[in-house]
Parts: sequence; structure tokens; C-alpha cells
Amino acid sequence: MAELFSPFTLRDVTFKNRIAVSPMSQYRARDGHANGWHTVHLGRFALGGAGLVYAEATAVEADGRRTHGDLGLWKDAQIEDLAPIARFISEEGAVPGIQLGHAGRKASERRPWHGETPVDDEDVSERSEAPWTAIAPSPLPYAEGWPEPLEMSETDIERVIASFGEAAGRAREAGFRIIEVYAAHGFLVHQFLSPIANRRSDRWGGSAENRRRFAVEVARSIRANWPEGYPLAFRLSATDWLEGGIEVEDAVATARALKAAGVDMIDCSTGGIGGKDRPRRMVIEQGFQVPFAEQVREGAGIPSMAVGFLWDAQVCEDLVRAGKADMIALARELLDDPNWPLHAAKTLGANENFALWPVESGWWLMKRERLLSKIGIR
Ligand SMILES: Cc1cc2nc3c(=O)[nH]c(=O)nc-3n(C[C@H](O)[C@H](O)[C@H](O)COP(=O)(O)O)c2cc1C
Repeated sequence: MAELFSPFTLRDVTFKNRIAVSPMSQYRARDGHANGWHTVHLGRFALGGAGLVYAEATAVEADGRRTHGDLGLWKDAQIEDLAPIARFISEEGAVPGIQLGHAGRKASERRPWHGETPVDDEDVSERSEAPWTAIAPSPLPYAEGWPEPLEMSETDIERVIASFGEAAGRAREAGFRIIEVYAAHGFLVHQFLSPIANRRSDRWGGSAENRRRFAVEVARSIRANWPEGYPLAFRLSATDWLEGGIEVEDAVATARALKAAGVDMIDCSTGGIGGKDRPRRMVIEQGFQVPFAEQVREGAGIPSMAVGFLWDAQVCEDLVRAGKADMIALARELLDDPNWPLHAAKTLGANENFALWPVESGWWLMKRERLLSKIGIR
């Protein structure tokens, strides 16, 4: 029995296998509303056999969007566009999840194919998209050439924490059954966690405990608006890969604090706190972030998810079997092949007669396979 295709339970929610669709921003929303694009984009992963399908980074405040195309759950009117998507994913046997986030100093950015640079007057003339002022723990620009964000006041901090809770309530109404907080890749929660972006001297900055207070309060705010039986996960950047930044020991301590605040799983990514250049310490190879998932899982005694440069079914099977992570998340490989989980199951001998496929496809594929074998082609 392939471990990758064994069920996994967090609280009252059971995932049919260990494969998650990593959150992938599509930059196709209008005023934060989902549309047909998101329905098909996410729906095909449910048909493709993933156990957990995460909707992309979804802003808890309009100004917390990274780009004009980000999804949002900052108002009730956005619920009804997401609800059919969550329902479809559920009906096809996967768990619908959503990633809640706030971009902080990375807000007001151009979409990747428009340059990933700050929105400016050119965007107004070309796309009628105006720039807005970003907020952050400290008035430090994200990178060279970026505007200085406004330092968040105590009131701003309390408001954003409350917004996470309110968005969680809307996610529940939309039918999602797991939330992941985006506390990685240089977005707001990560900005509070990292000494590189957080230079505050009040109770929200300075010591490690103070820097993680925002993340912990976000977890508490969500928990107050999220069913007891539904899991809550956090995506952390387990290292900043930079001198003076977060190291894995900090991530383990944060994971422990989050666990105490009702968090059930840590999705372990890395990097993204400052600038576009890849830090020298960051060496990319298949599964290069898996050791972080393993260390956080061991060190904090919390289930973990491994992500980043994973595509080989046997590699994924081996890492789950070895207890390095409880789940794995794939992004680009699933863009290339939304049916990756079904194909991986076949590779690992867990998809006899196309049984895991939706019957509308599997029945025909099985017939074709039999015919191919009868006429000696397979
Ligand atoms: C199109 C695209 C959009 C992404 N958007 C998000 C996002 O909204 N939230 C997030 O946490 N990561 C995002 N990521 C990062 C992925 O979730 C994932 O961590 C990363 O791509 C590494 O996994 P991979 O090697 O399987 O692609 C995005 C990646 C891609 C390719």
C-alpha cells in the first residue's frame, strides 16, 4: 500500500491521500471576486485526484492584496463566487482549502507577467489599475525601487488580526474545510516574524516572542471564527536564507507557539523576505525544502507539509513513508499535469484498473487498456 495514497486526518477532516494542491495565485480575480477561471483551474485538480485543493492566497482586506487580480474574502459578497468551487471540490472527494493572507509591504505589485514591480501611473493608463499605499510592521521597502510602506499602528494591527477572523468566517460559509495562513514568502505575517522586516520596539517586535505575537493572534482570531472540527494550517518560510533572518530553530519555536494557539499543520516553504535575488545559501534541487518539514515536524511535534521542487512519485512516497512530512504539496508540476496524483498512483501500484479516476474517464481508460493489451500493443 502506497503511503502517499493512505488517508490522513486532522481534527474531523480526512484527506483521502497525502497530496495537496499548493496555493497558486492566478491574478484573474476582479475586485477580489472568483470567476469561471478559478472554477476550472481548481476543479481540474479535484478531478485529478489530489486529496486537498487549496485556493490561492486570498486577501483579508482590499489593501492587503498583492495585485489587482488577487482573490479576496474581505466582504460577504465574495462568498457566493467561491461557494460553488468549494462544493464541487468536496463533491469530487477532495477537501477544499483556502489560503488567507495579507501582502503587507508587497501590496500594490504588478502581476508577474507585468513585471512584478510596484504598480504606478503606467498601470492606470494601460489597465485602469491605480497604485495604493502598503502597510507593514516597519517602514522598510520590500526591495530597491519599492515605495516605503506605512508603519502599522496598534489600531492597524488589531484591525488586520480581526480581518483574518472575519475572512475565516466567510471561508466557512463558502464551504472550505481547511484554512492555511500565508505566513511565508515575505507577506505580512512573515514580515512580522522576520527581524529583517520587523524593527518594531513595541510588543509586536524585538524579541522572538514579540515578533511571533502577530501570527499567534491571527491564529487565535481565526480559531474564534472557524469550526472546532476544521483544521487550521500555517505556511511558514522556515528560513530566510539570510544573515540576521529566520533560521529553522525560530520556525520550530513559532510552530510550537502556533500549535498552542490551535494550529494543526505547518506547510514548510522558505525565503522571500527581501528583494528578488535568490540568497546565496538557497540551493535548489528536488525536495530541497523537505528537511525543514522534517525538522519542524520533529521539533514542534506537529504534522507538516513538504513543498517545493517535488515531482517524482517515488520521491514523494519515500518522504511520506520515512515520516519526513505528513503531506506533500505540488504547484508547477500540477500546472503541467493536473492528473499527476492519478498518474503517481499508477506508478506506485495504487490505481488498479483506473479505479481512482472519476468513473466518467476511468471506465473508458480501462476499456482502452484492455483492448491495447488484447491486440498486443501493451
Ligand atoms: C502560479 C503560481 C502561483 C503561486 N501562488 C502562491 C500563493 O498564492 N501562495 C503561496 O503560498 N505560494 C504560491 N506559489 C508558490 C507555490 O505554492 C509553491 O510553494 C512553489 O511553486 C514551489 O512548489 P513547486 O516546485 O511544486 O512549484 C505560487 C506558485 C506558482 C507557480
